[in-house]
Amino acid sequence: MMITEKDFVSAPYNFSSENGITKWEAPSNIALVKYWGKRQNQIPANPSLSFTLSDCKTITQVSYSKKQNTEDFSFEFLFEGNPKPDFHPKMEKFFKGIESYLPFLKSYHFIIDSQNTFPHSSGIASSASAMAALALCLVDIERKMLEMTDEFFYQKASFLARIGSGSACRSIKGNPIVWGNHNEMASSSDLFGVEIDFDLHPNFKNYQDTILLVDVGQKQVSSTVGHDLMHNHPFAEQRFEQAHHNLSALFSVLKSGDFEQFISIVESEALTLHAMMMTSSLYFILMKPNTLEIINQIWQFRTTTKIPVCFTLDAGANVHVLYPESYKLQVVEFIKTKLSVFCENGRFIEDKTGSGAIMLF
Ligand code: DP6
Repeated sequence: MMITEKDFVSAPYNFSSENGITKWEAPSNIALVKYWGKRQNQIPANPSLSFTLSDCKTITQVSYSKKQNTEDFSFEFLFEGNPKPDFHPKMEKFFKGIESYLPFLKSYHFIIDSQNTFPHSSGIASSASAMAALALCLVDIERKMLEMTDEFFYQKASFLARIGSGSACRSIKGNPIVWGNHNEMASSSDLFGVEIDFDLHPNFKNYQDTILLVDVGQKQVSSTVGHDLMHNHPFAEQRFEQAHHNLSALFSVLKSGDFEQFISIVESEALTLHAMMMTSSLYFILMKPNTLEIINQIWQFRTTTKIPVCFTLDAGANVHVLYPESYKLQVVEFIKTKLSVFCENGRFIEDKTGSGAIMLF
C-alpha cells in the first residue's frame, strides 16, 4: 500500500516524558543520480540515488524538558558548544514544517547541540547530515512516548529530514539510498529515502570517496534558488526523464558490478547537474578552473592506468573522487601527487561508503 503524508501524523498520545536527552550521529551522502528541481512540500522533481558516507557526519544531542506554555516553539541552538542564534530562523522554519507530524514540539523546551566531524569551512554541505541527525533525535523523543516499529521510526526520521532539506532524507540508512518514485522500485517514495531492494555487487562495497576541497568559501547560490531555477527551465522535462533512465541503468550496474557503465552514468549526471545551472534563466558556473584541471587529470589517469576512478560534483567546485577500495593505494597516491595541488591549501578528505546513522544515547 502506498504510504502517504497522513501516515506520519501521529495518533493522539500523552506527553509522558518530563525531560530527557537523546543523541544521534548521521552521515553525509553523495548523490550519483542528482536531485535538482522540486515541487511544493519538498517533493523531488525526479528520483535520485546516493551513497551514504561514513566519516563526514553530524553529531547532534537534543535535551528536552516539559514547559507550561504550549503556544510557541522554544529552543536553543548550539554549534560545537557555542550558541548560534543566527540558526534560529532556519530551525523555527523546520519546526513549523514538521509540527503537524510531531505534536509534542510546542510542549517542550529543547537544547540542540550539534557538531560536524568535517571542518565547517570545507564547502561540504552540512544540511543533509545536520537535518538527518536532528530528525532522528526528534523522532526518538516521540518513540519514548509512542510505540513504533524500527522500520517506521527510520521512515519517519527520513520523512522529517526531507522537510528540512531534501537530500537529508538520504542520510539515515546505509547502502545506496533511493529517494523519489521510480517505476522499477515498488518501495520507492517521494516522501522518504529507502535502501535499494537488491544486493549491491561486491565491487561497490566500501566504495571510496575522496573529497577534494577546491573552494571552501560560502555557497555562491543556495540550493533553494538552484532548485527553483528548474521551474520553467527549457530542458527541465528532458532532464527529469533522463534521471529516471539513468537510475534504471544504475540499478543494473549496481547489481552487475560494471565499472565502465558506472563511470559513464555518474560523470554524466555530475556534468548534467552543472549544465542545468549554466542553462537556467539566471545562469551561473560553480566549477572553478581547478575543478576542470582535476577532471582532466582523472580522465588521463584512468586512460593510462585503466583504474576505474571517476568523479562527481555537488552544487559547488569541490570534486568527489570515487573509486573501488581495491585501488585505494594507487588512487590516494595519485591524489596526493597530482590532484592535491588544485585544492585549497592542498586539503582533501578521505571518506567511503558507510552504514547509516547511529544512536549514541
Ligand atoms: C546538488 O538537499 O541541499 O546536492 O532540498 O533545498 O535543502 P534543499 O536542497 P539540497 O539539494 C541538494 C542538491 C545536490 C544534489 C543531490 O544531493 O542530489
